[in-house]
Amino acid sequence: MSGLKATDALVLPLFEEGLAQIRGLPRGVQSAYERVAKDDAVKLAYHRMVQTLERGGINRLVVVNAGKRADFNIERARRVASAGVRALWDLSVRSVAIAFDSGLDDRTAVRAATEGVHFAMFRPESLRTQARLRHLPPLASVQIVVGDSKSLAAEVDRADIVGQAVNLVRRLSNTPANQLTPRVLADEAMALGKEAKVKVEVLDEKQAERLGMQSFLSVSHGSHEPPRFIVLRYHGRGGSGYELAVVGKGITFDSGGISLKDPEGMHLMKGDMTGGAVAIATVWALAKAGAKVNALGVVPATENLPGGAATKPGDVVTSMGGKTIEVINTDAEGRLVLVDGVTYALQQGARRVVTVATLTGAIVVALGNHLTGVFGKPDDFVGDVIGASKRAGEKMWPMPITPEHRLQIQSDIADIKNTGGRPGGACTAAAFIEAHVQDGRPWAHLDIAGTFWAEEETLHSPKGPQGPAVRTLFELAESLADGAA
Ligand code: BES
Ligand code: MN
Ligand code: ZN
Repeated sequence: MSGLKATDALVLPLFEEGLAQIRGLPRGVQSAYERVAKDDAVKLAYHRMVQTLERGGINRLVVVNAGKRADFNIERARRVASAGVRALWDLSVRSVAIAFDSGLDDRTAVRAATEGVHFAMFRPESLRTQARLRHLPPLASVQIVVGDSKSLAAEVDRADIVGQAVNLVRRLSNTPANQLTPRVLADEAMALGKEAKVKVEVLDEKQAERLGMQSFLSVSHGSHEPPRFIVLRYHGRGGSGYELAVVGKGITFDSGGISLKDPEGMHLMKGDMTGGAVAIATVWALAKAGAKVNALGVVPATENLPGGAATKPGDVVTSMGGKTIEVINTDAEGRLVLVDGVTYALQQGARRVVTVATLTGAIVVALGNHLTGVFGKPDDFVGDVIGASKRAGEKMWPMPITPEHRLQIQSDIADIKNTGGRPGGACTAAAFIEAHVQDGRPWAHLDIAGTFWAEEETLHSPKGPQGPAVRTLFELAESLADGAA
């Protein structure tokens, strides 16, 4: 092990099979580690234990249950780092070191530890007035100890950017809807664009109307807050066109509109702009990392509220792509804003489009709260997205769209309708977007309704907003820079 410096705390994984193989631990630390390993408590509940040490320049040892050695991968390693750092929150720890087993390659270890620390540093209680109750982690320095001393600075930089991008999504998801209106979201995008090489353009209602975005605008009519159509452009390759466009659902609050939602859980609909935040954060991260790729972010942002001017069930609107849409249920609003985003992205020269949205309750029924559903065509492109998710350590699962799903959303009076009833609700929502993907351009759709929020703390993260999909999309865009465009 290359030079473990004095630190308030050291985080070590513990495998089911036994101790991690970490060379050169100070003797007092090694013996404390061996003692903890014999304690069954580390295998229970929180899967972590904090020991006071005061040996070898280390004040505390945190041992985190890392599961089976054979299953140890980037995701597990990130959890160990995140859980380890979070175990120290209420202690006055200023510096922490994380060491992984030699079984994990150094690049992966460094990346997992860096991202894990970022995930642990996010706190949802930012609006509490008493600083003490905001639980802001006091960490000032982090050491990551790996087997080899060769420079991994680039890997740390990259993981730092990705970690910040995830926390950006979480912060935006978590911000109450009265504080994060479409206009505020646009301002956030502008500010982020200024600090990275991202050009941000914000279209107002009139401009959106001139472009024919009636499907998007129909969702905004019930609200006094004006909608915004946010566009982010990053030209890391130069030249024209975009290897990738990310179109994110930007509903800053979803009450359901006239088809009003049940009040239970409605407050979480402040996070219905999470897909939009993912689009913003992905483009920002690519620019920060200087990726050699052109990326477009598109965020149709609006509230979905009932009101005197609101869209009514049965109304028919025309999308920017020229399709007439019968709005059966005003609570199926995400797809209405996304299709105009997709049409815009294609017109701007996107070669591939990924839509990201907290789109359906049905995906939660299908996959649970730990998997993001992936739809799209062709299968190769869906495979690329799933492949990127694996490298990024995010759980995603492929989902189907079949001709029967497409039939379910045929309208009796217009080209298409915005719901196909309860059966296969996540699939018919995807089929609706698919109908607006022109020219056979590759398209994937990530339904993050199950994964954007966690009601309980996990090893990976504090409870609350989770910031899914950014890591995967960053990884995907990078792979497009490396190879075939
Ligand atoms: N934003 C919701 C979906 C959602 C539900 C996200 C739970 C996160 C957690 C979406 O706009 C919605 O209301 N979908 C409806 C569609 C239905 C009316 C066809 C749904 O899933 O019930
Ligand atoms: Mn809705
Ligand atoms: Zn919604």
